Amino acid sequence: MATGNQPSLYERLGGVYAIATVVDDFIDRIMVDPRLNANPRVNDAHHRVSPAGFKYLVTEMVCWATGGPQKYTGRTMRESHQALMITAAEWQAFLDDFQQTLDKFSVPQAAQRELKAIVDSTRADIVV
Ligand code: HEM
Repeated sequence: MATGNQPSLYERLGGVYAIATVVDDFIDRIMVDPRLNANPRVNDAHHRVSPAGFKYLVTEMVCWATGGPQKYTGRTMRESHQALMITAAEWQAFLDDFQQTLDKFSVPQAAQRELKAIVDSTRADIVV
């Protein structure tokens, strides 16, 4: 939701169509990243889940977390990542992929910082 005169991050990113486009590129990037798929549990999961469904859930989450009207219906970050035993190095590779996607779409720096803060807030639930 917008607070005062400041549009929400969701609005500044351009709403669901823009967010879904960015998520589409990002998920395509991470699902084939050899630095992430070197973890056999991540590799298995990346080949088990449907890319379209995965993109749907991540889009829903990003819209929700940035102040959009959507509601996130997926599992918690701890539930969905606990068994994957994601390492700090894998987390760095994930952030590197994220940066590449943000740069590809020329997401403004202020919005990048806010998105990275949201991602960072999930780290403790995702990295072992
Ligand atoms: C190194 C970092 C990460 C890796 C390797 C990773 C990998 C994965 C994999 C393989 C799945 C499918 C799990 C399954 O269904 O069994 C998954 C689910 C998911 N991830 Fe990640 N993830 C990472 C970080 C993140 C972050 C930072 C977010 C969001 C801020 C996120 C959002 C999601 C969502 C929304 C799902 C779907 C949850 C559900 O199934 O209900 N992930 N992730």
